[in-house]
Amino acid sequence: MHLKSQLGRLIKQLPGGKKLHATLKARLGGVDDYLNLDGRSSDELLSVVRHEAHRIEKSIYNDNFESKKEVYEKKRDTIEDCFKILRQRDFDLGEDPTAVWAENLIASFNNLENYVLDHSREAAQYRPERAAAFAAFARSRRSCRVWADEQPDDQELAEIAGHMIDAARWAPTSGNRQPWRFVVLSKPERKELLRGIKEQHCISAPLLIWVLMDKRLYGALGNNECSLFIDAGAAIMQMVLAAHDCGLGVCWNHFALDMIRSRPSNMVVYDRLTRELGVDDHLESVAIVAIGRPKFIPPEPQRVKISDLTLAWE
Ligand SMILES: Cc1cc2nc3c(=O)[nH]c(=O)nc-3n(C[C@H](O)[C@H](O)[C@H](O)COP(=O)(O)O)c2cc1C
Repeated sequence: MHLKSQLGRLIKQLPGGKKLHATLKARLGGVDDYLNLDGRSSDELLSVVRHEAHRIEKSIYNDNFESKKEVYEKKRDTIEDCFKILRQRDFDLGEDPTAVWAENLIASFNNLENYVLDHSREAAQYRPERAAAFAAFARSRRSCRVWADEQPDDQELAEIAGHMIDAARWAPTSGNRQPWRFVVLSKPERKELLRGIKEQHCISAPLLIWVLMDKRLYGALGNNECSLFIDAGAAIMQMVLAAHDCGLGVCWNHFALDMIRSRPSNMVVYDRLTRELGVDDHLESVAIVAIGRPKFIPPEPQRVKISDLTLAWE
């Protein structure tokens, strides 16, 4: 048995030990430890399902499924416990693609290698011209902050927002948590809520997508803070490139608590914004992406040379 579980057992045997154990686990354990599943929201349970299913699947790639089968059986049980609670809450698991994926995966628990083979596809070939085209595409994106007089109509903007969120949700996330939440703002009176906290180019942008992260999915945030922001950044970058691919201009704008808390007036604006838009406290704000047809593509702020960035190539 692992030292961690032995220690856990010992603590639980102490007077008041169960509570202490729960507190310690919540503080130290991160999402690995799923005490009190019943007390968790359905969003958290689904994220636990994704996390554990991903760990089970990964065991095949790391070739340790057999040697650590007990660990993976426990993960499968956790998934089943989550499913049970969700069903009791009348949650339709068939409506959630990630639950369906996890359900299929654990249905193949004793035949995982075949599951992986059946659901995999052939790798692509390296094509230098494609690689060069992608690099040129990445280079051609600029942060745009001045918007053209003529803009896509509401229908088109809604479609573009859809493409961006679709691209975002295919970004990788630590532990397959999938913690993103988006608020799409296009009505002038809603964008106006940002006055006093974000720059004019945000308020005047035809479309804004506010990116938030469900911090409950990171367990004890102290342990996973970096992952939350890295996960957000990966998704935001996919959104930015999706909008760029639609021929629109985009600006990624910082909108995290360090900046929000830097001035008392920001806090007042932020409180009003979250209240008006019904954004819950468990959502951590990261960025506001401004999108629209730009008046012009600004000059390239040149980049540091590859040779100066690369410390070693051995
Ligand atoms: C995390 C992050 C936060 C940013 N925040 C802002 C912001 O609040 N306001 C703004 O005008 N630009 C913001 N930007 C855009 C940068 O200023 C811009 O990417 C940088 O100057 C390089 O220009 P380029 O994007 O055209 O290559 C941000 C970019 C990132 C990645």
